[in-house]
Amino acid sequence: MDQQMKILIVDDELVVRESLYHWFSREGYQTKTAKSGTNALEMLEQEFFDTLFVDMKMPKMSGFELLEIVKKRYPETAVVIITAYGSIDSAVKAMKIGASDYLLKPFKPDQLSLVMEKISQQIQLNSEYQYLKGQMDKICRFDNIIGESDPMKKIYSLIEEVAKTDAPVIILGETGTGKELIAKAIHVKSNRNNLPFVPLNCGAFPDSLLESELFGYNKGAFTGASHSRKGFFEVASGGTLFLDEIGEISQKMQVDLLRVLQEKKITRLGDTRQIDVDFRLLSATRQNLERKILAGQFRSDFFYRINIISIEIPPLRERKEDIPLLAYHFLEKYSRETAKNVDTLDHKALESLKSHGWPGNVRELENAIERAVVLSKARTLTPRDFVFLKPDASISSHDKTLSLKDMEKQYIDTILGDNQWNISRSADILGISRATLHRMIKRHNMKKT
Ligand SMILES: Nc1ncnc2c1ncn2[C@@H]1O[C@H](COP(=O)(O)OP(=O)(O)OP(=O)(O)O)[C@@H](O)[C@H]1O
Ligand SMILES: [Mg+2]
Repeated sequence: MDQQMKILIVDDELVVRESLYHWFSREGYQTKTAKSGTNALEMLEQEFFDTLFVDMKMPKMSGFELLEIVKKRYPETAVVIITAYGSIDSAVKAMKIGASDYLLKPFKPDQLSLVMEKISQQIQLNSEYQYLKGQMDKICRFDNIIGESDPMKKIYSLIEEVAKTDAPVIILGETGTGKELIAKAIHVKSNRNNLPFVPLNCGAFPDSLLESELFGYNKGAFTGASHSRKGFFEVASGGTLFLDEIGEISQKMQVDLLRVLQEKKITRLGDTRQIDVDFRLLSATRQNLERKILAGQFRSDFFYRINIISIEIPPLRERKEDIPLLAYHFLEKYSRETAKNVDTLDHKALESLKSHGWPGNVRELENAIERAVVLSKARTLTPRDFVFLKPDASISSHDKTLSLKDMEKQYIDTILGDNQWNISRSADILGISRATLHRMIKRHNMKKT
């Protein structure tokens, strides 16, 4: 508990003022007293108090009135209402207008300790939140991209750099890492930002359809073409074309696209005239294109053309320090959207979010927070609000500190456990003989539990 906390006791009764004063001073708090609301407000003008203990019933200015003024003028100051048994209703009302807690008269010292523990926890959470928020404001050079890990900082400077040029950029990363978000940021920072950003998911179209989407067509170009239509190359002209899932396009399309990139001209389907196009190409993929090239599934000439600059977004589990910032960002977003007053995550909740493997990356984290906010009945989210996150098996395989020996042990242990230590079945699954499995059990000193 933070004994440097400053406490102000506001009560018209001398006995209460004195007993509280003694208790707090003995516990080491810096304590002062005021005998009326007006008196308290004068003192608040002069100095900051972390917590006020305010009697509900006072002549002239009631505890209620004082509470309202304090919450408006000094929102950082916590207020605890002191009230007599039989006026619980008004205590509840006080909580609704911002009191942090209430004490029922007559109270015992351990009740005071409990209240103080709660208050100091709240203050700590609040200051952690303010710190994170300050960090967020400082680093949000890109409206909506959150993260201050080293790899994210590198990405920010890369975005600034590439935005000044027209060079094609390929954005690499697992699902949900924010590839489209980064593509948009490049467009917004570039001098093409007054013309459209046109995203197209290449994986969503069969080849023939993708061709007509990109090149456009003239009336009668094919059955069903009842009118002429501009393709995405033309729509994006002057702006940015973002081809998502570029690893999905056929080799024929790769040849066609390469030509467009070189000549900066297109011909609509069913037409012979050439049209000048001037778009900046950004692309993204979750696949390893170099591997696809080796497998003969992707053209290297096309790859080198779109891969002038590449931006690789690491998976969330490799930049865990971004998790609290992102979590708070989404917490704010969804408590605003749902008009629910859920505004903090406790330590343990943050820890459990940090230890999750996030195979779906930022998108998965966003969904998890949204779900927790929607279902939460309290202001603070705890690990219980995230029990739906399954501990994922991928974590251990991503834990780069695990030695091969430990991994072997862990894996054998899992298989044995899953099969109730049935040696034949486990050996079968592991693809080794029973004798080998016995040897390994002995070597790793494993025992049935
Ligand atoms: N750094 C970040 N800050 C804030 N929001 C983020 C961040 N990264 C991702 N998001 C959010 O996560 C969601 C997924 O991001 P996005 O669609 O850009 O991912 P993606 O890499 O394109 O995924 P996919 O490969 O599945 O298409 C979006 O709602 C996006 O706003
Ligand atoms: Mg995407």
